[in-house]
Amino acid sequence: MTISKILLQYSKLLKSSSPILDVELLLSKTLNKPKEYLYSYPEKKSTAFQLSKFKKLFSRRLKGEPIAYILGRKEFYGLNFKVNPSVLIPRPETELLVEEIKQFAISHRPLAFIDMGVGSGAIIIALAKNLKKGNFYATEISSPAIKIARQNAKFHKVKADFLKGNLLEPLIKLKNSDFILRTSIIVANLPYLNKNEIKNPTLKFEPRLALYGGPDGLKYFREFFNQIQKYKLQPLAIFLEIGHNQATKIKKLAYLALPKYKFKVKKDLCGFDRLVIITN
Ligand SMILES: C[S@@+](CC[C@H](N)C(=O)[O-])C[C@H]1O[C@@H](n2cnc3c(N)ncnc32)[C@H](O)[C@@H]1O
Repeated sequence: MTISKILLQYSKLLKSSSPILDVELLLSKTLNKPKEYLYSYPEKKSTAFQLSKFKKLFSRRLKGEPIAYILGRKEFYGLNFKVNPSVLIPRPETELLVEEIKQFAISHRPLAFIDMGVGSGAIIIALAKNLKKGNFYATEISSPAIKIARQNAKFHKVKADFLKGNLLEPLIKLKNSDFILRTSIIVANLPYLNKNEIKNPTLKFEPRLALYGGPDGLKYFREFFNQIQKYKLQPLAIFLEIGHNQATKIKKLAYLALPKYKFKVKKDLCGFDRLVIITN
């Protein structure tokens, strides 16, 4: 079968929001060629082996598996990240966190950046690549996720400490944790979906541990602010990605732990509350 026939025939079978692009990506992966190749050689015939390989990838997509898991990679903040089903696929809206921190860092010069729940490493690696100066730390409860984050850091030649444990706990155990935490920006895209949102069938391929924030979606925010209060932590700033209806409740939690801090909500491009920024 020729490349142009595969593109035409298989894209008609997909119910995805971007069927042509999906088939292009799957065929590029099969042939191990860039997308441009498909349009430069539309009449080239695929071998039986190539077609069977393509069909295997295609059937995964047909069952709804995200294209990023099939390709094994996802772009975030202009960088390429390895992903697999043990990590959340980095979302474009999370790029807002990186952008806001970049701006803040220019004027406040934090010495350290701490990413809680690092997943693939997208946030901390994008920060390290763009800011260059500073010490970069990340925590994560899932061992397979930490493994992917370390591989991504190595690929991007980024130096960061990846620590296994619950939210800030592994950092608090470090010898110089007092100094690190006082001079740091804490950033997190914690699991924040509630018991209804988690039922969305499009999320079934991603780890529940990365998405579900308990019945009201706030479980991890409570735990995080409890740690702040318990250890009397005074970071320079906290940047959190949140669900569109969580800002008021998170503000209350933050106020109990850090009554003297300022609180700002930032909307995403769709006009939804997306970030809370808590500053000293
Ligand atoms: C929403 S994902 C974010 C992943 C990544 N930071 C990103 O933005 O693409 C949340 C991450 O938090 C991790 N996580 C869940 N509970 C945790 C805990 N108690 N302590 C540390 N990390 C946790 C999950 O394994 C997952 O990788």
